[in-house]
Amino acid sequence: MRKKESSIEMANVMEKTLSQAIAERRATPSFDDSHVPDDDLKKILEAGLQAPSGYNMQPWRFVVVRSEEQKRRLRAASFNQAKVEEAAAMIVACGDADGWRNGDIEEMLRLGREGGMPENYAEQAKINIPNYLSNHPNFPMWLNRHVMIAFTHMMLMAEVLGYDTAPMEGFEEERVREVLKLPLSYHVVALLGIGHLKGSDKFYGGRFSMARTVFAEEYGKPLKI
Ligand SMILES: Cc1cc2nc3c(=O)[nH]c(=O)nc-3n(C[C@H](O)[C@H](O)[C@H](O)COP(=O)(O)O)c2cc1C
Repeated sequence: MRKKESSIEMANVMEKTLSQAIAERRATPSFDDSHVPDDDLKKILEAGLQAPSGYNMQPWRFVVVRSEEQKRRLRAASFNQAKVEEAAAMIVACGDADGWRNGDIEEMLRLGREGGMPENYAEQAKINIPNYLSNHPNFPMWLNRHVMIAFTHMMLMAEVLGYDTAPMEGFEEERVREVLKLPLSYHVVALLGIGHLKGSDKFYGGRFSMARTVFAEEYGKPLKI
């Protein structure tokens, strides 16, 4: 565990495997006053930015809140949840509804070309993406699905690095928007608290069985594995 060690010492600490991180992760009820070094925060953020997205459009945006003053304001916008102020870092995960209109397509194509995107794909994408997004039957769902994949990458990377995390949907979007001075095109999707657990962890709430949640081939047929 990385708890309360310097970043130099931490470099030698074994990361958890993904299986361990998934098994051990709990929604942290309370954080102690330890910090997240910049190197680790960067790894966590970069893990999120590596998430997949439709057409590689990456509509996610994140605001990292670490100052005491901003955390206090964010807490007030989050139904006074104490862990918002206790966390070493709060990552506010947003989706930008207008990114694709404001240069994201061009940037996606620039990066793609660097990686070998064929020119005929790029030309087609310039037409297809605006068509697809301007006629999307459920655009908030489209945004949300991408932001949450990146969010989950970050949460699990933080756990792999030995941190504790708290995902949160308990906030008032308009108040968060005001605190963070977000543009109107930004939707606030979820908050992620990162730090180290204070006290004991919450109980394990259990998970629904595969029989209840997983089907084979079509709805209602049990998967036999
Ligand atoms: C998107 C999302 C939003 C959540 N919002 C809150 C929240 O606002 N406050 C809170 O205390 N817990 C919140 N939780 C934590 C859940 O209550 C917790 O994940 C669930 O009870 C299962 O517990 P576990 O994650 O420890 O297994 C949220 C979890 C998710 C995934």
